[in-house]
Amino acid sequence: MNDRRISDNMEQLLNKQMTREAYQAQVYLSYGSWAEVNSFGGIATFLYKHSNEEREHMFKFLKYINDRGGSATIEAIAAAPVNPKNIGECLNAILQHEIDNSKEIDKIVNLAHEEKDWATFSFGQWFVKEQIEEESLIKDVIDKYNLASTATSQNHNLYDMDKDLASASQEGTLPREESL
Ligand SMILES: [Fe+2]
Ligand SMILES: [Fe+2]
Repeated sequence: MNDRRISDNMEQLLNKQMTREAYQAQVYLSYGSWAEVNSFGGIATFLYKHSNEEREHMFKFLKYINDRGGSATIEAIAAAPVNPKNIGECLNAILQHEIDNSKEIDKIVNLAHEEKDWATFSFGQWFVKEQIEEESLIKDVIDKYNLASTATSQNHNLYDMDKDLASASQEGTLPREESL
């Protein structure tokens, strides 16, 4: 019995996204290491934790491809970007990576819609929601950074922000789930 439940095009796109999530993990890992070397241990912890989340995303794609009768193909991961100049540049680069990633997720949902592949459409919705959360999570961190770095006693504020991020949640709040 043929248990293949995804098209060749979909298998290819899902595989590409699996590798892209592994790349996202590398980005967070590399920025985390940069932050650690530059004495921002809290920010490093936050970024390391997030690197693990991205690795879990990668694994979700692997499982889904295989569960639907395709095969996950492990390919080379692009090199992580060069080190940022400062925390501000680091956070803005991360936000851009997330926005770019959201656009890649949209491609999967678009193709699923075109092919009337409702299983993949539903699988993709989880990531659509996740990307809303992640973009909003990073935007919140950028807001905190902007506040901390423009106040008068800069070092003290940055120190507090760094501590804060060590225990910050990895979950963003979706606008529709927010309540007062
Ligand atoms: Fe991800
Ligand atoms: Fe992400």
